[in-house]
Amino acid sequence: KRVAVLISGRGSNMTALIEAAKAPDYPAEIVGVFSNRAAAPGLQTARAEGIETATLAQSSFESRLDFENALTRILESWAVDYICLAGFMRILTPEFTTHWQGKAINIHPSLLPAYKGLDTHARAISDGALEAGCTVHFVTPGLDEGPAILQARVPIEAGDTAETLAARVLVEEHKLYPKALALLASGAVTYRS
Ligand code: GRF
Repeated sequence: KRVAVLISGRGSNMTALIEAAKAPDYPAEIVGVFSNRAAAPGLQTARAEGIETATLAQSSFESRLDFENALTRILESWAVDYICLAGFMRILTPEFTTHWQGKAINIHPSLLPAYKGLDTHARAISDGALEAGCTVHFVTPGLDEGPAILQARVPIEAGDTAETLAARVLVEEHKLYPKALALLASGAVTYRS
């Protein structure tokens, strides 16, 4: 299966997907990486791996819909079966998410449905939560609301800051995302609304 990864920044989850997809028996190939920020460091990594990249700035479009239509044309030109959001920091319209429903997944750094949105680790720590983690889920119109495919848990330790917790969760993200994409691309998991 052909997969595009959508990023906005560092791209460490993207890198984990690219590395996993090198295994001969992995059921997906990362054929393109898109960023809404031309300066995203992850783009360099993708290019160094010989993967096609594309960028579009939403500010150069009149509307979110025009931006997304241009994005969809890029994804269609890559003939992708699935898209993986990996630190993609733009909210997508219901038109876009419905178009890709069942084909688009995201990784979120919390144990959804807890802590949707931003600053997940700081919020978990200030609530005195004992556990944190990450979730790979289908992308649906509601932000961070689609059905979960896989989760991984980590303990929150005394003295954790948002940064130390994020680092502990990130290690798990890099293992979880390739597993979840493999489940989807192999047909072991399918979306049902
Ligand atoms: C990850 O923590 C991901 O869960 C969140 O944004 C971060 C992206 O990191 N959505 P990276 O760009 O994959 O390194």
